[in-house]
Amino acid sequence: MRKQAQKELNPRPDPDTSGLGMMPGARVGRYPDGVLQSGKYLTTPASPGWAGSAGMEGSECLQLLLQRCREAKDCAYCPYSRFPVGAALLTAGGEIFSGCNVENACHSMGVCAERTAILKAISEGHTSFRAMAIASDMSDFIVPCGACRQVMREFGTDWDLYLTKPDGTYIVKKLHELLPLSFGPEDLQKA
Ligand code: THU
Repeated sequence: MRKQAQKELNPRPDPDTSGLGMMPGARVGRYPDGVLQSGKYLTTPASPGWAGSAGMEGSECLQLLLQRCREAKDCAYCPYSRFPVGAALLTAGGEIFSGCNVENACHSMGVCAERTAILKAISEGHTSFRAMAIASDMSDFIVPCGACRQVMREFGTDWDLYLTKPDGTYIVKKLHELLPLSFGPEDLQKA
């Protein structure tokens, strides 16, 4: 009922790239389903295929990152919002850390999928990141919240964010595009 009302208020044109209008310069891609099988906590070894964002487009490595974020979504603990989100973070060394949103009866204690993945990677000794893929069930491209963007920014601004839709399409943006004029660790030295 509520969804119907929302649709009428905010009709979304088909097809799938409706969100692109809000994201000038975004690149678009599509991933096939079930390309690679992987375990939930698989650590992917470094390989030349990871080299730089341009090298990732169309690569098996990117397919894996996209798959891992969808798998992570299935672990979401979101009984309050019923809005599952999954994230998969690629480190400079080629490992993937995934995360899901974890909500709490004390609502403000909930954690987003993106931060779960980052905290897992940091706590395993990784601080250099190349890319993150994010998945949700939303009919539009999932975008990270402001708090997550700031947490990502702590670890650089030049990495890629693959923002996906359930239909397999995605857009890719640099973090500095999603969080321009950001405040980071270097700024503390300028006082
Ligand atoms: N959420 C994420 O985990 N990532 C996002 O990019 C957007 C929102 C979570 C937070 C909360 O558990 C639920 O989605 C609804 O906001």
